[in-house]
Amino acid sequence: MPHFSRRSFLHLSAAATAAAAFRVMNEPMLAAAARHRPHVPGAIQIDSNENPLGPCQAARDAMSALLPRGGRYCDELTDELVNTFAQIEGLNPDWIRATVGSTPPLSVAVLALTSPKKSYVTADPGFETGMHMSTITGARIASVPLTKTYAHDVKAMLAAAPDAGVFYICNPNNPTGTLTPHSDIEYLVSNKPPDSVVLVDEAYIHFSEAPSALDLVKAGKDIVVLRTFSKVYGLAGIRCGFAIARPDLLERVMEHGGYNFMPITAVAAATASLKDPQLVPARRRINATIRQQTFQWLDRNGYSYIPSESNCFLLDTKRPGKEVREAMAKENVMIGRVWPSMPTCVRITVGTEEEMSHFQSAFQKVMKS
Ligand SMILES: Cc1ncc(COP(=O)(O)O)c(C=O)c1O
Repeated sequence: MPHFSRRSFLHLSAAATAAAAFRVMNEPMLAAAARHRPHVPGAIQIDSNENPLGPCQAARDAMSALLPRGGRYCDELTDELVNTFAQIEGLNPDWIRATVGSTPPLSVAVLALTSPKKSYVTADPGFETGMHMSTITGARIASVPLTKTYAHDVKAMLAAAPDAGVFYICNPNNPTGTLTPHSDIEYLVSNKPPDSVVLVDEAYIHFSEAPSALDLVKAGKDIVVLRTFSKVYGLAGIRCGFAIARPDLLERVMEHGGYNFMPITAVAAATASLKDPQLVPARRRINATIRQQTFQWLDRNGYSYIPSESNCFLLDTKRPGKEVREAMAKENVMIGRVWPSMPTCVRITVGTEEEMSHFQSAFQKVMKS
């Protein structure tokens, strides 16, 4: 089956280009806008940082079991989800808000906390959603290059914006899959202007061994942590995430998004996933193994890439990356987009072994042509 129907593709790409009409810009929209076409049947889809494993069995069972109750809002299930996460992480449930993926809290945080007088500070290359939102608030965007080790350059970020409203840290970073040390995030939190907020996006944290920044939330700092079930948990299409912060800050951020009930299938799948303690370590191992195999293949064949701790990495094709994407698409392998500051690099999502083997054959063919 095609990943997107023609209509949904047109909707996604129109949403991505008609920024004036609908400016929330998320990963599938950005991927569709770069792709210029719907996925064709059977195409290898390693362009959107999805998890090919999908929901775990317990999540699938929980969703199926819930279908007969789909006529009810069942808000108690969201309480159960929040309480489960609170217990696992040692958090007060009042500090957690369940959301429909982490795009909504990321977007509304930028709407709430940036303005023409309050800049948005981000990494380059970095995930673009917050940048798109700051064009709505009229905030200046300070885009600060990553360090030589591809961490966020927190000192340069501080220097770039004494007027900051938001410092956006994506850890591991999208698109590089590289880590920013916890000590640097702590430094940023301790040295930022008093009325700014550090927004730490932990969409990919489970693929790495990196410590979370949730300890800084618990310490009551000016920090919002975002989590999503779209990545390691394989629930991108089911849609569930969290914003976690001190209640006053959470309220300040989330009041811009209004309130809506969570889809009960998403909540049930997320709760079941959290309750399986083996799920994250097992999937982290699978991703790391396939990622390492891919890196070894790239090494053997003399290709350059940025080593990553996540489910994506940047591959330097030494050619215009957009041309390589187009050529790969003709081989039925959809690879990720190109960031303007690194025009010869393309983002590759780590797929299954089979998908990566198709990627290798297609990439070799494209590079040798
Ligand atoms: C860095 C980052 N943050 C947030 C998201 C939001 O994902 P979702 O809205 O599916 O939770 C994504 C999706 O790819 C992402 O890459």
